[in-house]
Amino acid sequence: MDAEFPFRLRLHPRHLIDIGWSDLLAAARFPAHDLVEASPTLAWSSGRTALLCLSERTGFDALLQALDLPPDGEIVMSAVNVSGMAEIARAHGLTIRPVDLSLATLTPPAELVAEAITSRTALVLIAQLYGAAHDLSDIAEACRERGVLLVEDAAQAWSDEFRGSPEADVSLFSFGPIKTSTALGGGVVVAADRGLAVRVADVLASHRPLPDRWFRSRLMKYAAFKAAGDPHRVFRFGAGASRHRARP
Ligand SMILES: Cc1ncc(COP(=O)(O)O)c(C=O)c1O
Repeated sequence: MDAEFPFRLRLHPRHLIDIGWSDLLAAARFPAHDLVEASPTLAWSSGRTALLCLSERTGFDALLQALDLPPDGEIVMSAVNVSGMAEIARAHGLTIRPVDLSLATLTPPAELVAEAITSRTALVLIAQLYGAAHDLSDIAEACRERGVLLVEDAAQAWSDEFRGSPEADVSLFSFGPIKTSTALGGGVVVAADRGLAVRVADVLASHRPLPDRWFRSRLMKYAAFKAAGDPHRVFRFGAGASRHRARP
């Protein structure tokens, strides 16, 4: 790590979907919503509570429902994110105050976040982009001093070493099709405050489950993409199978 680039990238832009054939076969046996309903809350190693949901945006929407947002509330957001996150914030009546990113960290400098916070700020949402997991302690301090919730959008940052910044009040992860360690859809909300986690879990539990066919058609679609992205392996497998069948 150097001063110019003080983080490690964990997300590798790829043309291949990051899921194994054995995972696809296992998923075919367990419909996604059964898994989510069977284990809506998980103990988290750090003493935090983790909730499974159908996408990170679902988790973010449930979080905003669970928070007691003021009618004229604002959200301070790092300036680069997928449009869906901004749309959800607006749908909850929040006015967005975007904050520019430092090119060295791809997160906004803490001073700019502090300047953007007003008495109407309900929460700060910082995206950890391209698999980086930047240290959020300065931003967390600015939020703590002003009594504002810090939410980390770690959609692209899941790894064996990173399960959310300890300074964030809430960390959100995505397991959508193009993510590292994809589950072809799904999200995880990790909350430091157990009471908030329970309120988010209640909102998630009120959602109508998606039909099995939704996940099954996803499974087939991405199995086809995976096969198309790795035709040599599929061809070798096919050739091996026909050789096996041809044996007397
Ligand atoms: C930074 C960021 N935030 C949020 C999301 C939304 O994730 P999901 O598709 O699980 O809702 C994505 C997905 O690409 C993302 O990259």
